[in-house]
Amino acid sequence: MRGLFTGSTHERGRIVNQIQPNVNGDILSSLRPHTLDDYIGQSEVKQKLKIAIQAAKMRSEPLDHILFAGPPGLGKTTLAFVVAKEMGTNIYVTSGPVLERQGDIAAILSSLNDGDVLFIDEIHRINKAVEEIFYSALEDYKVDVLIGKGPTARSIRIGLKPFTLIGATTRSGLLSSPLRNRFGMTLELQFYSVDELVQIIKRASSILNISIEESAAKLIAERSRGTPRIALRLLKRARDVATVKGREIMDIDLVEKTMDILEIDRLGLDEVDRRILRTIIEIYDGGPVGLESLAAALNLEIDTLREVHEPYLLQKGLIVRTSRGRIATDLAYSHLGYSSRIRGGLFDGSHAESEECKTQD
Ligand SMILES: Nc1ncnc2c1ncn2[C@@H]1O[C@H](COP(=O)(O)OP(=O)(O)OP(=O)(O)O)[C@@H](O)[C@H]1O
Ligand SMILES: [Mg+2]
Repeated sequence: MRGLFTGSTHERGRIVNQIQPNVNGDILSSLRPHTLDDYIGQSEVKQKLKIAIQAAKMRSEPLDHILFAGPPGLGKTTLAFVVAKEMGTNIYVTSGPVLERQGDIAAILSSLNDGDVLFIDEIHRINKAVEEIFYSALEDYKVDVLIGKGPTARSIRIGLKPFTLIGATTRSGLLSSPLRNRFGMTLELQFYSVDELVQIIKRASSILNISIEESAAKLIAERSRGTPRIALRLLKRARDVATVKGREIMDIDLVEKTMDILEIDRLGLDEVDRRILRTIIEIYDGGPVGLESLAAALNLEIDTLREVHEPYLLQKGLIVRTSRGRIATDLAYSHLGYSSRIRGGLFDGSHAESEECKTQD
């Protein structure tokens, strides 16, 4: 580790960590896949990455800057590490909210070596006042830093080594367009299919050294909201139940029992998801209701509602988003055992939300 960033992970004020993708550390011992071939699903994203990586290697150039976008737990961080590993470069990790001063960013950028990857998680949360420093850094590998204060202040230009920025965001709509436009590739991660999640669950079970029947793996996959992080969490909880019950193999009965304990229903909804739907139906008469009012009624953080719960409810067709707010669909009514509402004009004037409206409220 060089200069500025030397120190233990507990060091105060530390804003960036270097992680060697090629050595045996936490990353390798975790369940994260390490190569594109090990990385299951997201085939379009993988294909684009493969071409870009191969081309960059053939030209001996650094990889173009990449933005990974998508809901939590779909594998953005994992992919950033996979890319660094495939490129055979170092990866430095930091996150948007800790980059508070232009000086900090200039210091990080100027310490990067040829081809290094800088990974910025939650890049949409970079302070807007300091974001500008990235514009010239990404485009021309240069940063302008202001030295001193008041009338004696002067700006100096520092040349950077060609590096690759990988950003991850759950809310790409919040990125300013100058920043977004400087990424050579914006790759949107999609929810995983049941088959893909089954493969992820089986791979993890063999790493964790536990046996799982195909039908049991499928049941976990179906209840994982298309999200590997949730699949792995449910797998671990099922393993706990197996341990307590002294079972060597996880079968479908055991997984069903686990789901009952966790109160996860057949669509993969948990208690909070059901409370969201019940609130829309019972308090707001099925909607439309704005996200802010809904979050207040539920006593939930608006970001949690927007980033964790809403994307899956939308994807499952349990709610729809309109210009006037969220509406519970007939499927939500029937799933929760309500009789279908009479849809007298509920959708009138509620046009499906356009791209521009997506990031509002
Ligand atoms: N394609 C995949 N194959 C196998 N495991 C995966 C895959 N994608 C993600 N995972 C696993 O799922 C978990 C979550 O992945 P990761 O942390 O990369 O998600 P993320 O998109 O960065 O989430 P967040 O937005 O919360 O930061 C990790 O434990 C990782 O090992
Ligand atoms: Mg992440």
